[in-house]
Amino acid sequence: MSQSVSPAAATDAPTAAHLLDFVRRTAADTALVASLPLDPEGRTWVRLDGPGGSEAWLIGWPPGTGTGWHDHAESIGAFATARGALKENSLAVRLPSGGWRALELHDGVDRERLLRTGQGRAFGRHHVHEVLNESVTEHAVSVHAYYPPLPLIRRFSRTGPVLRLEQVERPEDWQ
Ligand SMILES: [Fe+2]
Repeated sequence: MSQSVSPAAATDAPTAAHLLDFVRRTAADTALVASLPLDPEGRTWVRLDGPGGSEAWLIGWPPGTGTGWHDHAESIGAFATARGALKENSLAVRLPSGGWRALELHDGVDRERLLRTGQGRAFGRHHVHEVLNESVTEHAVSVHAYYPPLPLIRRFSRTGPVLRLEQVERPEDWQ
């Protein structure tokens, strides 16, 4: 290995750039993307082997489906659209880690982007977002990767500027 200057740099933990490269390359794998079963009634997913021990998923999104607002705790991540287009609404703000049930967001913290087929984005720790397929007719498919593997997801509801913590989901809840 190269000369490391800190314990963190000495690990092989994937960076956000590694995850973004992985999700973009995987989203371009047309045979894999075509192998995902699609269900008009709800999202579908297949677990993938992410790089460096990361958690990765191939996800199908029927028209009109979305995740709702959530974050990924300490995990960094990336996702890329393999088919169709996905809208991401996100917050350019760091939320307090705990001890609150409702927060009023300041003006100007909302961000939105549209990720068309082949486009991806990476995000850092404590990223808060929702992802939606706003198409009325087209399924979307995307590839996601997280490192470390998700220890928990906090789910929020949003009414105007007010964000409420609704639920903390742990991996055993997703199985
Ligand atoms: Fe997410």
